[in-house]
Amino acid sequence: MKRIGILTAGGDTPALNATILGAVVQANHRRVEVFGFIKGFSSLLNPRVPHLRLNPLFCTIPELDGSRGGTMIGASRDYVDHQDGETIAQIVDRLRRLHIEGLICVGGDGTLNGMQALSDFLPTVLAPKTIDNDLGLNYRHEPDEWVRQACDNPPGHCYARSPSRTRFDLEHMVNYVTPGFATSVFVSAWGVQRIRTTAESHRRIAIVEVMGRNSGYLALGTAYGQPDIVLVPEHPLDVDRLVERVLEVYELQKNVVIVCAEGVVDACGNELGNETASTDPAGNKVLSGAAEALRQILIQRLGDSYFTAKRRNESARAAIFTRKVGHTQRGGRPILFDRFHGAQLGSQAVDLLLEGHVNGVSILMWNRQRGFHVGACSGNDFRDRWGLIHPRQMHLSFYDTEVLRPSRMGVDYLLPIFTNAIGPDDMEDVHRTLFCAGNLTQPFHSVNVDVNKRICFLE
Ligand code: F6P
Repeated sequence: MKRIGILTAGGDTPALNATILGAVVQANHRRVEVFGFIKGFSSLLNPRVPHLRLNPLFCTIPELDGSRGGTMIGASRDYVDHQDGETIAQIVDRLRRLHIEGLICVGGDGTLNGMQALSDFLPTVLAPKTIDNDLGLNYRHEPDEWVRQACDNPPGHCYARSPSRTRFDLEHMVNYVTPGFATSVFVSAWGVQRIRTTAESHRRIAIVEVMGRNSGYLALGTAYGQPDIVLVPEHPLDVDRLVERVLEVYELQKNVVIVCAEGVVDACGNELGNETASTDPAGNKVLSGAAEALRQILIQRLGDSYFTAKRRNESARAAIFTRKVGHTQRGGRPILFDRFHGAQLGSQAVDLLLEGHVNGVSILMWNRQRGFHVGACSGNDFRDRWGLIHPRQMHLSFYDTEVLRPSRMGVDYLLPIFTNAIGPDDMEDVHRTLFCAGNLTQPFHSVNVDVNKRICFLE
């Protein structure tokens, strides 16, 4: 291969530039040109295919900085529909005219679906990214545990997991963790620590909502911020147990911090935060409002008198507040773990393409002997028997439903990722750059301005 393409699809993560850089550095070694496609699949859907050369003469362009969050080539939630043969043929023709011989897609489960449609026509490899940590398998045959039933509204099928009898070991996980997750947990855990002191001072109950869609990994990791309670989507909300635990903690310390995953579900399996019933362009449900729904439940169950009787607060409404970590947990500088492993996965994706993988996935594995190391599998390994890829959910054994916090197994899962996740330079960077006098006087210079000057089009 002489020329390959790379694109970043889906929501951004802090590790995307690190992954692109890892790919480009490896491509330089192997004398392969890399074209970056602008805004994910959107570029390929556009007849002009906006793109740029990431390594002219096998030298990485200076705008590609692996310690910068986001993606310098842009991202979007546009996807290729595998049933739309006409569009796929157009894309394949555009890639052929650009002499692209292989494609790396940096993305999650949705990206893998779009990429697979192209893999019948040219070699493709996925380099994983997602802050949600939901691309992967807890064990190899997990997709076989999905069952489906016909449903009327909307007409089609609905999918559910059959109860698992698998004996689970951390070493069985396929793609143990995805770059972007560690930085995201870093931000949310820090946010929880900061909320704590204000909740303590004002005798309040704070509900901090974190992202993650229907997967509880981000909420689980946020336990590093020492919240009193963590609520994950994999275990339906037990309101009685929650209220009981809130009261126990509040009686003791006059403040409670609850971390709530945006995808938490009630006893019937309905998402608390699915208030608008809308979807994004990739068809994902937009989840907003889980924390607020939880707040209403607590206001009702605790009542004003609980707070006023002992002059702890003026009302339940005043005492219970919500905050979303929101997009701050998806942006900004990646911490060491994500920079290092993102780059490794990007580099591995190039090697897989050059080794002739078609529909390959570059993955991060972990075992007790070797620690983290890169590996490879096929996109098909993630599909259930009907061909569908389901986002990975946190393994049930990672959570203790009695104490409403990570279980011993959950702790064991997190330790290898986070023990050395922050590098000395991560803190040094804050010290060096945040209160820099120039920040007050110079306008922000976006990398998009420089990248724009390099964009080329297919004539
Ligand atoms: O999938 C990543 C993610 O950050 C989710 O955790 C979250 O629900 C969603 O994207 C938010 O998407 P958007 O940025 O499009 O609002």
